Amino acid sequence: KSLKIFAPATVANLSCGFDVLGCCLDTVGDEMVISLSSTPGVKITKIVGATLPFETHKNVAGVATEALLKEYGKNIGIEIEIYKKIKAGSGIGSSAASSAGAVWAVNHLLDSPFTPNQLIPFAMEGEKLASGNAHADNVAPALLGGFTLVRSYSPLDVIKLHTPKDLFMTVIHPQIEVKTSDSRSVIKNKVSLQKAIHQWGNVGGLVAGLYTEDYQLIGRSLEDVIIEPLRSILIPEFDTVKTTALKNGALGCGISGSGPSIFALSRGNQNAIVIAEHIKKIYDTTGIDFDIHVSKI
Ligand code: HSE
Repeated sequence: KSLKIFAPATVANLSCGFDVLGCCLDTVGDEMVISLSSTPGVKITKIVGATLPFETHKNVAGVATEALLKEYGKNIGIEIEIYKKIKAGSGIGSSAASSAGAVWAVNHLLDSPFTPNQLIPFAMEGEKLASGNAHADNVAPALLGGFTLVRSYSPLDVIKLHTPKDLFMTVIHPQIEVKTSDSRSVIKNKVSLQKAIHQWGNVGGLVAGLYTEDYQLIGRSLEDVIIEPLRSILIPEFDTVKTTALKNGALGCGISGSGPSIFALSRGNQNAIVIAEHIKKIYDTTGIDFDIHVSKI
């Protein structure tokens, strides 16, 4: 038995929700082929499009699959082929796509012994290997689709949120690598109460806006007073891109995950395309290679 899947890219944090909010992109992602094999154990048999380790314990898809099989309790054989389209260190959940894609497909091949929510901790093992931190804000939307909220990490409590019909994401990926572990090291451990109040007000506002499909409220809530000021200095032209996107009708704009990708959220596909064109003009002047995607959520 074999399965070919699309493993989606994801945008984590969504400005105000560091490590708790994320959403899944419809049209950007990797392909994977996962097969049951008669030889017990997990084997990575093919990797196209990236230089990644074939050793199971060093590969995020391998580690996530092993975590699933350990819980499943049967010694079965799995072969994994990975066709990477999402670049490592791009900030749109490259490692999460591989981890989540692998466990989703293996679960399907085993006739779904686990619910999608139960797959999240397995995929988080891949994230732990990739960044040193088992964050769930990329793997959760990759597995559940749409917008997700990690209400709690201990115990893990992940909620799939409502996704308004008309939301589109423009994502620019400057081709400089920012490792999640590096961009986590610039963050401070302590937050003032004043900033915390500001931030959790926005998280609540964003969730309320998603449920009521209040696009203006979604826009007002896409604000990050804690992480963005520290991380944005690692991203060329961040301020110009953000100002331009907002001036041209984006609901909000911020760092995608740990960067360097920048996302702009729009109401309607056409608005997202217009913003992509404006951002392209800005990046054309930098000499930095980049790619831009527009995707429905
Ligand atoms: N929440 C994580 C971070 C996402 O910002 O470090 C990494 O993609």
